[in-house]
Amino acid sequence: MMDVEHQSDDAGAAGTHMVRVESVHKSLAQKHVLRGLSFDIPRGETTVIMGPSGCGKSVLLKHIIGLMRPDSGHVWVDGKDVTALKTAALSELRQHMGVLFQGAALFDSLTVEENVAFMLRQHRRMSQSEIRDAVADALELVHLADTQALKPAELSGGMRKRVGLARAIVMRPSLILYDEPTTGLDPITGRGINIMIRDLHERLGITSVVVTHDVESALFVGSLIALTEGGVIVHQGPPDEVRQSDVGLARRFFRPEEVPATANGA
Ligand SMILES: Nc1ncnc2c1ncn2[C@@H]1O[C@H](COP(=O)(O)OP(=O)(O)OP(=O)(O)O)[C@@H](O)[C@H]1O
Ligand SMILES: [Mg+2]
Repeated sequence: MMDVEHQSDDAGAAGTHMVRVESVHKSLAQKHVLRGLSFDIPRGETTVIMGPSGCGKSVLLKHIIGLMRPDSGHVWVDGKDVTALKTAALSELRQHMGVLFQGAALFDSLTVEENVAFMLRQHRRMSQSEIRDAVADALELVHLADTQALKPAELSGGMRKRVGLARAIVMRPSLILYDEPTTGLDPITGRGINIMIRDLHERLGITSVVVTHDVESALFVGSLIALTEGGVIVHQGPPDEVRQSDVGLARRFFRPEEVPATANGA
């Protein structure tokens, strides 16, 4: 999957972009959520997506993973049109994507080991001992060595997120998507998760996409920030540029002192 080096950047083709979202429209329950949304996610960077609650960030991630299909428009991942893939090809492509879902979404009846091993057992021909080693490696990367036998109910919120992270990286994906990785955690645990996201990015070289409301988190992990509102991307660029952007959302997130308190609820 990973022929990263400088290729031409044809529309939708692999090129420098890991993901290309092109004029995607999606309505859900009669609500027009994505309204011709287009943007690119370059390889090897960490792109942060920020936007108000309910604006369609999780819906956008689900389109990238292929869990939702657009009403119109296209989503390309590593040069493949996700919107046109059949089940088998989509399942193949998904094995290269790690996802940390909002709320971690662990299987409560399975142990940490079984949760992390789940995709390996489904998709890799590995022996029990190879799986055990891969799980131990992934848990070590998220600083959760020796938690294999625990059940999700025995874990703190921060630990659950980290097990979710271990599960997302165990397949050694080339793209990893985090949906609100720090929401609901105390600031210190949240900071720990941010450090881990940055560390994983540096150590594994994974193209990363982080959805967050958390300004500190966005500036800490992001090499690019995309602001989304009203079903489109309103600004995308390096953090320093986006922080200075004139769009209202940039002011609400990064310069709240400029915005009247009543309109400050992003
Ligand atoms: N499966 C679904 N069926 C119907 N409506 C949905 C579905 N999924 C999302 N929606 C609606 O689409 C809109 C966008 O939802 P989404 O979960 O993407 O928001 P979000 O930006 O991730 O918000 P948050 O920051 O609170 O997580 C919301 O109005 C939501 O109610
Ligand atoms: Mg969401």
